[in-house]
Amino acid sequence: MPEQTGSDAFPRSRVILRQKLESLQRSGVQQLAKVPPSMTPIVQEVAVVAELPPERPRAPAPSRPAGAASGRPPAAAAGERPPLAATPPASSVAASDPRAPSAPPTPLAPGQRSAALDVIRREVIVCRRCAELAEKRTQTVFGAGNLQARLCFLGEAPGADEDRRGEPFVGPAGQLLDKIIAACTLRREDVYILNVLKCRPPGNRTPLPDEVANCRSFFERQLELIRPEFICCLGAVAAQTLLRTVVPVGQLRGKFHDYRGSQVVVTYHPSYLLRTPAMKRHTWDDMKMLMQAMGIPIPP
Ligand code: URA
Repeated sequence: MPEQTGSDAFPRSRVILRQKLESLQRSGVQQLAKVPPSMTPIVQEVAVVAELPPERPRAPAPSRPAGAASGRPPAAAAGERPPLAATPPASSVAASDPRAPSAPPTPLAPGQRSAALDVIRREVIVCRRCAELAEKRTQTVFGAGNLQARLCFLGEAPGADEDRRGEPFVGPAGQLLDKIIAACTLRREDVYILNVLKCRPPGNRTPLPDEVANCRSFFERQLELIRPEFICCLGAVAAQTLLRTVVPVGQLRGKFHDYRGSQVVVTYHPSYLLRTPAMKRHTWDDMKMLMQAMGIPIPP
C-alpha cells in the first residue's frame, strides 16, 4: 500500500500525537523538534520521543525495607516504580532557579514509556543496517519485561531459540538466567531483559564491532526510557559495549560502574557459566553485591 503523507491523511494519528505532546508537556518537556509537515506520523512520533528531557544524575534510590516477604522491592512487586526522589520536576526547578543543582528528571508515566518503546520496536523490526544479520534473522528480538523495572539485564545477542521465538533469553542460557533472577528473590516479570544486538549473529558468533555500533542507539534508547536504577551486564560484549571499555569481565566485576546514572554490575554470561560451572560462585557473589545495593535481603 502506498504511504500517505498528506497532512490530513492520518486524523487518528494526529489525535494520538496531540495527546502525546500534551502529556509530554505535562511531564516537563519544554521544546519539541521542528518536524516538516510532510513527514509521516511515525517519523513525527520518533522526533517527539527524541526530544525527551536529557539524562541527569539521579539521587540514590530509597532502600527496600528489610523483611518484606516476597524478596522483591515493594514498588516492583506492586508493578510500580518507586519514586526517584521527592523533588519537583527538573524542568520546573531549572526554570525557577537556574542555580538549582541538577535534579532527577520526571520519569515517564508507564503508558508513555510503553508508547515510546513501541516506536523504537517498530524501527528495530524494519532495521537493515547490518545486511548479513537482516538477511539471516527469523525476526528481531527487541527486549522484554517490566517497563518500570529497577533492574535491567543486558545480554549479548539473540541465539537460535531467541531468533525463533522473538524473546530474549529463552534458550538454555535463559533458563540459567531465570535461576539467577530467582536466586536474587526476584521474578522475571520484575526485571527488563534486553541485548546489545537485536538480531542473531549467524552461528552465534561474537557480534562484530560494526554490528554493535549499528545497534547501539537501540539499546541506549531503551535504557533511556526505562531508566533502571541498576543494570547487570551479562558477559564481555554487554559490559564492554555499555561501559565503552576493553577491560575484561574478570576485572570489571566486584564493583559498581556508572552508566548515565544507573549503577552497573558486571558478571559472567550465562552461556559461559553453562560451559564453566565452577565460575557460578563468582556470579552469585556479584548478585549478592547487587542485592545488597538494591536493599534486597540476601538469603542465608
Ligand atoms: N544470549 C544472549 O546474550 N542473549 C540472549 O537473548 C540469549 C542468549
